[in-house]
Amino acid sequence: MTLTKTVLITGGAGFIGSHLVRLMVNKYPDYKIVNLDKLTYAGNLENLTDIENYSNYEFVKGDINDRNYIDQLFVDYQFDAVIHLAAESHVDRSITNPLSFIETNILGTIHLLQAARNIWKENLTDKLFYHVSTDEVYGSLGETGFFTEETAYDPRSPYSASKASSDHLVRAYYHTYNLPIVISNCSNNYGPNQFPEKLIPLVINNIKNNKTLPIYGDGKYTRDWLWVKDHADAIDVIFHNGKVGETYNIGGNNEWKNLDLVESLCDVVDGLLGREIGTARKLISFVKDRPGHDRRYAIDATKLMTELKWSPSVQAEEGLKMTAEWYLKNTEWLENVTSGSYQNYYSKQYN
Ligand code: NAD
Ligand code: DAU
Repeated sequence: MTLTKTVLITGGAGFIGSHLVRLMVNKYPDYKIVNLDKLTYAGNLENLTDIENYSNYEFVKGDINDRNYIDQLFVDYQFDAVIHLAAESHVDRSITNPLSFIETNILGTIHLLQAARNIWKENLTDKLFYHVSTDEVYGSLGETGFFTEETAYDPRSPYSASKASSDHLVRAYYHTYNLPIVISNCSNNYGPNQFPEKLIPLVINNIKNNKTLPIYGDGKYTRDWLWVKDHADAIDVIFHNGKVGETYNIGGNNEWKNLDLVESLCDVVDGLLGREIGTARKLISFVKDRPGHDRRYAIDATKLMTELKWSPSVQAEEGLKMTAEWYLKNTEWLENVTSGSYQNYYSKQYN
């Protein structure tokens, strides 16, 4: 098959990136998909074993912070488009080690922007730099209201500040150098392959191991959860049909207070493990709050839904069950990622 496009996906060995890579290599056999990933603790090639030998897929191990390496990669591959997901992504880690977030999320992004600008020069037809971002750049909501694309940025954690900064740089390259860009800001994702430092897989893993379930603060913090494959679909839709220079919010219209979510998950996992319902809830433990903890996120995705006709396909009840089933079935995956450095991280974060 003649290849029509070479697309660089950064961070493709991570949680969302691996779902996106799989979608793209399957759906577009005429695209060459190059997955660039440093394979940090969060990157895992086991996420992609089913497609690793596809002829339109290639993995390259590399660091977006390495300017010379990135420049050469763009020269070698002559990418037509970039979908940029590589990032340090966990808020708690950004509180203990903010510097790595500045390096990867801000400097790494500008190295990619610069490399794209260098090879695309004036020839910008059919080129696109797609930056994948987060709703956390908008800060925190009260009891009511939603984040729209017009909401002013108000990041509160080193993670969200670094993502906000990268969004600004991407827009600056559009306005200053006409670089064709698009940005999406998505709410909390959940589903298979998420590293168990994040709430949902952490809770499933702890229930399985009869460990306490740490709830920060009063447990009434609210998140808007989206099934990860719906996020990958939204990125595909925006990549192909989004308007250059625009921002699209992506969300599941699926708000949960953390405690309610964890209680539901407890019951789902009890059911799957054949334990008496109520067993896992006894493991819930309220712990010290996250500093600067954003109270509520909720996305208004009207623009994406009306202009580009995307909508989420998986409802919460079904999604939580599929997620719990995946973690309970993929024991080897879970054991591999929770051995070694995860144990150190866990005891530092929770003890
Ligand atoms: P993740 O932590 O699971 O994966 C990040 C990937 O980036 C890993 O594979 C890691 O190895 C790679 N990476 C990190 N530093 C790198 C570097 N210097 N060079 C090359 N690769 C590097 O993250 P995720 O949850 O899949 O998030 C992906 C993107 O989506 C991030 O940009 C994040 O900000 C954004 N996002 C995440 C969510 C969410 O709920 N997880 C929601 C909205 C937006
Ligand atoms: O909103 C999008 C963001 O969602 C992404 O940009 C981030 O990359 C992603 O990590 C996620 O950030 P959160 O901080 O919202 O996700 P996390 O799973 O860490 O936490 C979800 C909520 O649960 C949050 O209110 C903190 C709380 N929490 C989390 C952990 C890990 C707990 O109460 N206990 C925990 O042990």
